[in-house]
Amino acid sequence: MTVGLNKELESNTGFIRTSDVLSEHFAGAAARRLDQQHGNEELLYGLDLLGLAGPFSRVTPWELEDEHGVQRINASGYAATPFGEMPPVLTDFLQEFLTKNRAMSLPQQSSGPWRAALQTNLVRLLARELPSHADSQVFFCSSGTEAIEGALKFAKAWRPKAKFQISFSSGYHGKTLGSLSLTPNPEYQDVFRPLVPGALTSPYGDLGALTSLIRRVGPDNVVCVVVEPIQGEGGVNIPPPGFLSGLGELCRRYGIVVIADEIQTGLGRTGHWFESAAQGLDADIVTLAKPLGGGMTAVGATIVRHTIYKKMLGGLSSKRHSNTFGGGAMAMAVGLKSLEYLMENDLPARSLRLGAEGLARLKTIQAQHPRLLEDVRGQGMLLAMQFKPMLGLPLPDVLKELVFEATAILALRELHISGVMGNLSLSSKRTVRLTPALDMPEDVFKTMMNRVADFAARNPAARNILTNTPPAMTAKLAQFAASKPKKRTPSDG
Ligand SMILES: Cc1ncc(COP(=O)(O)O)c(C=O)c1O
Repeated sequence: MTVGLNKELESNTGFIRTSDVLSEHFAGAAARRLDQQHGNEELLYGLDLLGLAGPFSRVTPWELEDEHGVQRINASGYAATPFGEMPPVLTDFLQEFLTKNRAMSLPQQSSGPWRAALQTNLVRLLARELPSHADSQVFFCSSGTEAIEGALKFAKAWRPKAKFQISFSSGYHGKTLGSLSLTPNPEYQDVFRPLVPGALTSPYGDLGALTSLIRRVGPDNVVCVVVEPIQGEGGVNIPPPGFLSGLGELCRRYGIVVIADEIQTGLGRTGHWFESAAQGLDADIVTLAKPLGGGMTAVGATIVRHTIYKKMLGGLSSKRHSNTFGGGAMAMAVGLKSLEYLMENDLPARSLRLGAEGLARLKTIQAQHPRLLEDVRGQGMLLAMQFKPMLGLPLPDVLKELVFEATAILALRELHISGVMGNLSLSSKRTVRLTPALDMPEDVFKTMMNRVADFAARNPAARNILTNTPPAMTAKLAQFAASKPKKRTPSDG
C-alpha cells in the first residue's frame, strides 16, 4: 500500500496524475514520503533529517520556497541551472517551440535542423578561441557522464594499442563505469572493482608528476589524459598557472589525446566560455553538459577533432557509438536558446565580474571568522568555502573523514537556515560550494552574500556548526551514519 497520498488522491485510483502535480495537490510531505519510498530512500531520508529534502517550489528563477512558505536564495543545483529555475527566457521559448515546431523529435537517422544548429554554434564558439577546432564534430547525449564515456571511446579508437588513461586526484568525471574508473574516489569506486582497466591517477596541478608518470608507463601506452580545468566536485581547485598549457604541450609531443572536461566549468560558470582554452589548453576533445540544457532539460555534448571523430565513426563504422535520445529536437532547441541567451547577455563575462565580488566578500568573511573557514576559493560563479573541522580533537583517519563530512553537511543546513541553498562537493568532504545562476540579479546576489555573512556570524567557529544543531537531530544523524535505522520517522512537514 502506498503511503502519503492525501485523502482525495487515495480515494481515487491510487495513480498520481499530472494535474495532481500541477495543481499542487500532490506536493510537500506526501511527495517527499513517496519519493523516499520509491526513490533513493537513504539519501532523501538523510536530507529529510536535516530539513533539506524539499520539495521546493520556484518563487522567482533565483528564489525557492519550502512547504512552510520560507523563501531562500538558490545557489545549489550543482552548476546545472545557469539561469535558475524555469527561466522565462526558456519557458517563453518552449511555448513557442511547442506551438510552432514541425521538425521531427528524435531524428536519429536523418538530419535535424535543431541538432545541426546547436552543433554548428558549439563548434564555432569553440573555434573562436581555438581555431584548430574549426572542423570539429559533435556527439550529443543526455548527461555529463555519457559525454565522458563518448570521449573515452573516441580516444581509445584513436589510439587502439595504448592501454592507460590518466586522470587526476580529487577529479570527478561521473559515475558510469568508464567515467567512474577515472573518478579516483574510493567511496564511489570500491564496490565496483575491477573497473575499466588502465586508469591511472596523477596529482592535480603537478606537471612534473604527470611527466614522470607518462614516461614511466611509456608515452605510447597512454590513450588519453582527462582533466577538469578547475575541479568542481573536488572543491573548486584552481591549478597553478602553466599546468594546463604544459599538459597540452606534453601530450601533443607524444600524440596523447587530451580531454578537457568542461561539464562544470564550461559556458560561463568560471567566467569563460571554455576555461581550458582560457588557460591555454587546446584540448582534442571537450565535454559539456550541465548548463547546456539551460537547467530545464538534459543535454550533453562531446566536441571532437575531425580526425579523431572520423577514426571512430568514419567509413562503415558510423554506428559504433550511438544513443537513442541524444540530438532530440526539444533538447537541442533548449540548448540552442540557452547558448543564444548566454551570448546575447555575455553571461561568462558577467559571471567573472560578479563572481570576483563574491569571492572578495568571502575573503572578508574568512578574515573575520578564521576559526570557521579554513579557505575560500573560486572563480566566476563557482565559489567554495572550506570549513575547519567542527571537532578539533586528534582523531583516527576514518573518524576524521566522518567529521569532515559532517561539518560540511551541517554547515549546509546552517546556511539553509540563513536563507541560502548551497551544494556539497562530491569529492571534497569539507567544502560547500555556491553555484548561483549566471544571470542572478545583482541585488539578489548581494543579499545572498549578506546571508552568507549572517551564517558565519551565527557560526563564528566551526564547532558552533555542531552546537547550533539540535542534539536530537545530531543523535538521529549519528544513528543514521552508524547503521541503517530500523524504524524511520521522516518529518511530516
Ligand atoms: C566535471 C564533471 N564531469 C562530469 C560530471 C558528471 O556529470 P553528470 O552528473 O551529468 O553525469 C560532473 C558532474 O558533477 C562534473 O562536474
